[in-house]
Amino acid sequence: MEDWPGYFESVLGKGARETLLAALDSFAKEGFAEGLSVDIAAREGRDTLELLRQGWRVVATDNHPDAFSFLWSRVPEALKPRLTAVEVDFVEMQVPDCDLVNASFALPFCKPEVFPELWDRIVAAIRPGGRFSGQFFWDRDSWASLPGRTHHSREDVLSLLDGFEIEVMNEEERDDPPELRSPKHWQLFHVVAKKR
Ligand SMILES: C[S@@+](CC[C@H](N)C(=O)[O-])C[C@H]1O[C@@H](n2cnc3c(N)ncnc32)[C@H](O)[C@@H]1O
Repeated sequence: MEDWPGYFESVLGKGARETLLAALDSFAKEGFAEGLSVDIAAREGRDTLELLRQGWRVVATDNHPDAFSFLWSRVPEALKPRLTAVEVDFVEMQVPDCDLVNASFALPFCKPEVFPELWDRIVAAIRPGGRFSGQFFWDRDSWASLPGRTHHSREDVLSLLDGFEIEVMNEEERDDPPELRSPKHWQLFHVVAKKR
């Protein structure tokens, strides 16, 4: 997973994450659209593009400069004014007040010593009635043993989401097919939560 440019290319063209689509669907059912979202670790922008398409303004962050060259080239001209892309590490990232924080497959890459402050900034930024969507990686996920990664138990996740109404919390546990270059065991939570 350190070959991010290779990874960016391999996922180009994939659709938005289910957790983001579920969050947008919930906003739409409430008659709310076109809010301000922060797409944390947006990478090549599969979720950012969907947010823009649905009329949202997006602050997309990532610490990898190549992420944004892939992202900007995919954004239609008419939608570019709604996108702000910020190259920043989780350590320094400020989270503007917003309606939605989306962190798809992002937070496990935050160092454990940085995570509590980052999570506090995320929670503080989401307005009451706003949402968080994203993934938390669980303890038995293969990457839990790598240095500098943040994984959570179910109890940890429930505690982080204290102050939210949990709308989706789906567990997934599976093995990659063995023919993959570096097959791994996945164990994660897919979450959508509405701030009280
Ligand atoms: C697995 S990708 C997920 C990207 C995208 N959100 C998605 O759902 O496909 C993880 C992203 O986290 C970014 N990342 C890794 N470490 C980071 C850090 N310390 N600060 C900010 N972004 C980081 C990587 O550059 C990469 O784009």
